[in-house]
This record gives sequence, C-alpha cells and structure tokens, in this order.
Amino acid sequence: MRLILLGAPGAGKGTQAAFICQKYGIPQISTGDMLRAAVKAGTPLGLAAKQVMDGGGLVSDDLIISLVKERIAECDCENGFLFDGFPRTIPQADAMKAANVKLDLVLEIDVPDAAIIERMSGRRVHQASGRTYHIHNNPPKVEGKDDVSGEPLTQRPDDAEDIVRKRLATYHEQTEPLVAYYSKWAATGDAQAPRVRKISGTGTVDEITRRALDALQN
Ligand code: AP5
Ligand code: ZN
Repeated sequence: MRLILLGAPGAGKGTQAAFICQKYGIPQISTGDMLRAAVKAGTPLGLAAKQVMDGGGLVSDDLIISLVKERIAECDCENGFLFDGFPRTIPQADAMKAANVKLDLVLEIDVPDAAIIERMSGRRVHQASGRTYHIHNNPPKVEGKDDVSGEPLTQRPDDAEDIVRKRLATYHEQTEPLVAYYSKWAATGDAQAPRVRKISGTGTVDEITRRALDALQN
C-alpha cells in the first residue's frame, strides 16, 4: 500500500498513521517529523526550517523534495509507504509524478477548523519517537510521560494558537488544492492515478481508524 494522508494541521494524520503503518507493515514518511529531527540535530536543513515552521509557513519545495527523494531511496519500502504531511503543494505533487513514484490512494481526513484549535492546545508529543497524545482525548497512561519510554512529553512550539491559525490558512491556500489535483488526475482514467477517498476526522480515534482502514480496503 502506497498512500498519502492529507489533512489540515491537527486533523489526526500522525495519530492514524501509526495504526495504518503497523497494520500494513509500511514506514511512515512524515516530513514534519523529519524536519523536527533536523531542527533538534541543528543541521543546516534544521536551521533553515526552524524559523519557517515556527511562523506557520511552508519550507521550500526544493528542500522538501530532495529530503523525500533521499528518504525513499534508502527506505525499506517493499510493502509500500505512508506519506504524512507530504506532498503539501502542487510542485511537490508534480515532483513525485515526474519521478514516477507510484501511489495507490490519497486519503483525506476532514476536520472542521473550529475543532483544530482545541486539539492542538491539548497535544503533547514524545520528541524522540514522534508519538502523539492529547491531554483529554488520547491521554498517556501516566500524566506527562510517554507510554513506551516513560520520558517526558513536550508541546510543539508551533501549537500556539496564533501559529495554528496561520498553519490552517497555509493549509487552505496551498495544500487543500491537492484534493482537486488528485481527483482530476483520477478522472482522466490514467492507470497511474491514485484513488481518492475522504473520511470525516471527527469522532473518537478508534472510529476514525475504522473509517480509514475501510477506505484503504475498498
Ligand atoms: P507537520 O508536522 O506535518 O504538521 P501538520 O500537517 O500541521 O500536522 P500536525 O502534525 O500538526 O497534525 P496531525 O494531522 O499529524 O495531527 P495529530 O495526529 O498530531 O508539519 C509541521 C511544519 O513542518 C509545517 O507547518 C511546515 O512548516 C513544515 N512542513 C512539514 N511538511 C512539509 C512539506 N511537505 N512542505 C513544506 N513544509 C513542510 O493530532 C493532533 C492532536 O489531536 C493530538 O493531540 C491528538 O492526540 C489529537 N487527536 C487525534 N485524533 C483525535 C480525535 N479523533 N479526536 C480528538 N483528538 C484527536
Ligand atoms: Zn503530524
């Protein structure tokens, strides 16, 4: 299974990616997680990306495209892969098409903007693994601690409310047009075009996992 998870910031891409990747035995390729790792390591990419990410904008297409191409080249992808947060612009999608990266499905997780702010303010993450919790909706077993390592959970710097609003605006402007991009491609009947499915991302984490797995199978 080769799929793209598309959705607004906080739609639950990372949360659902964990279940899907485990079930299908595929790697999660999250450009956000890769960029946060680069920021933490203080690499030139991390230094270039930090300011943009903290302001709610998008890192340049050239940087992201080469990052993903490198990642695909080294990945254990015989069962496929899951793109989380990529592609995020039409040039990024075009670059995958030009590189003949085969895709089976584009799955859009739809959550109204109003629900996003609450999700982001309660999000806590385990930085090293990317595991994500929510203080009310998906709490860790021990408050403030990662379930697996027991290490402390932190808040992402871009989860401040004003930055979340900017990220939502960036999503509607630059990423949402990808739904029409892939739908139009599928409508041409091209055998290379991925299927496009949309599910509601409102409800419990389990309910959304069931919807996602159903969309993957049908
Ligand atoms: P990225 O890390 O991709 O952030 P994002 O797309 O904004 O998405 P999030 O990770 O914030 O949300 P999510 O959908 O994964 O939700 P989650 O599962 O955590 O990107 C960060 C930045 O990096 C970008 O702003 C950009 O600057 C840069 N970047 C990344 N990729 C790029 C690219 N391709 N091109 C250019 N720049 C790029 O869930 C959110 C919260 O809700 C959690 O607390 C969770 O526990 C909770 N939750 C989950 N499901 C539910 C539910 N059903 N009900 C209630 N709460 C729930
Ligand atoms: Zn995420």
